[in-house]
Amino acid sequence: MSHQKILILDFGSQVTQLIARRVRESHVYCEIHPNDVSEAFIREFDPQGIILSGSHASTYEDHQLRAPQAVWDLGVPVLGICFGMFTMAVQQGGKVEPSEHREFGYAEVRAHGHTALLDGIEDFRTADGHGMLKVWMSHGDKVTELPPGFKLMASTPSCPIAGMANEEKRYYAVQFHPEVTHTLQGRAMLERFVRDICACSGDWVMGNYIEEAVARIREQVGDEEVILGLSGGVDSSVAAALIHRAIGDQLTCVFVDHGLLRLNEGQLVMDMFAGRLHAKVVHVDATAQFMGHLAGVTDPEQKRKIIGREFVEVFQTEARKLANAKWLAQGTIYPDVVESGGTKTKKATTIKSHHNVGGLPETLGLKLLEPLRELFKDEVRELGVALGLPHDMVYRHPFPGPGLGVRILGEVRKDYADLLRRADAIFIEELRTTTEPHTGKTWYELTSQAFAVFLPVKSVGVMGDGRTYEYVVALRAVETQDFMTAHWAELPHALLGKVSNRIINEVRGINRVVYDISGKPPATIEWE
Ligand code: XMP
Repeated sequence: MSHQKILILDFGSQVTQLIARRVRESHVYCEIHPNDVSEAFIREFDPQGIILSGSHASTYEDHQLRAPQAVWDLGVPVLGICFGMFTMAVQQGGKVEPSEHREFGYAEVRAHGHTALLDGIEDFRTADGHGMLKVWMSHGDKVTELPPGFKLMASTPSCPIAGMANEEKRYYAVQFHPEVTHTLQGRAMLERFVRDICACSGDWVMGNYIEEAVARIREQVGDEEVILGLSGGVDSSVAAALIHRAIGDQLTCVFVDHGLLRLNEGQLVMDMFAGRLHAKVVHVDATAQFMGHLAGVTDPEQKRKIIGREFVEVFQTEARKLANAKWLAQGTIYPDVVESGGTKTKKATTIKSHHNVGGLPETLGLKLLEPLRELFKDEVRELGVALGLPHDMVYRHPFPGPGLGVRILGEVRKDYADLLRRADAIFIEELRTTTEPHTGKTWYELTSQAFAVFLPVKSVGVMGDGRTYEYVVALRAVETQDFMTAHWAELPHALLGKVSNRIINEVRGINRVVYDISGKPPATIEWE
């Protein structure tokens, strides 16, 4: 790849991925690698600049992690963050003093010395004219003596050296975390580092990336054939569109409909890929097979296992019919790669076991094609739009692999799935068409995930002159950054009322709608 690159050496911080995301948002390509990569690796990587991450270790003295000597020998700019600042201080001849405890929190940092990193970047000014930054700080160990050639760049009352710089060598370090959004100017600082100090031109743009990705896929695949499991999700859709752009009919997509998809989803996927893109798509309607195996099963984990197993089964059967296929394409994205420890320097490249293709490469004896391996989710979406996929498809809420199987409590039945699909579609339609006046955004955009859940309990109602005895649907809508924790969305009552009315009037078989107001934790986002 011909892009200018930033190397991020990871010392084990929880938030290293955020550094990479901020750098990519500045349109600069970067990769995360473990801090103990070889000197040769660093030279070969040929970075335009290096960022040293924070660490999970509680104090500096807990471990003896150091940046490889090559970091200091290359002559490129280096930015140390938190632990990265300590290692820079020590390796450059300064002093770090350990402390017993460590705390994280909001701090106001005063900028000093008009350094190239912070000059002109500030949140407010003090009465006596000092530029101040609102940051997320990790207190604890402290740099107590600047290394030779360094000057003070930032301070707080409790942390007199909260930032330091050697401008001749273009080494900068901050005790706080510019990668987290709580540090208001963090993105500006990282952009300043990569664009101005490292002089990266900003050549990482998804629209231009298509050409390069297409060339790479063509070179990798040659004249061989590729199969891909299309799920309707963002990652597999974008992967399919990209590979199709590269090799056209050498790609066959297999779309397994397990009968647990959202309303009209099968049709939408076929219209898009077979219809508009003219891709080869094998559409397998396996509803009967899945429902057969799920009959009588009520345990959520058991249901997940059955759906996963049957998926592999159906996909394998279809794949074996395509005797010429030598490659299996997957929509693996960069966070999957980083989380599974599969960065290029680690040998054991574990592939995230996507629900739909778990274990398939081994059993099918296929080579893996993963054209999105370097991309973050935002980049995958941008690429999808650049490839001509509809905005609504690319910016859809996530949908679990087992589909409605985990949104129908207890036993999964086709009649339940049919009711749920219709109720869910009404809810989503209303979220997409109702705008929140202050932000001008739709409630669909303001929520991270929203859906209906089928409760197989009957309650009494009245409709017209008659008494009804029908099922209940729960609505779930959450706001979350990372899906690890979530708040229930405070949807307007009028919106909830309208959705409830429409569902009860339009979906015969449902006479009661409730709204889920549980946070995660202690509840989860899905009900099963
Ligand atoms: P929970 O319910 O654990 O959900 O709070 C967190 C996120 O994960 C999704 N999810 C799944 N995705 N297979 C998937 O592919 C699953 O079995 C599964 N279970 C939950 C859920 O939709 C939410 O986005």
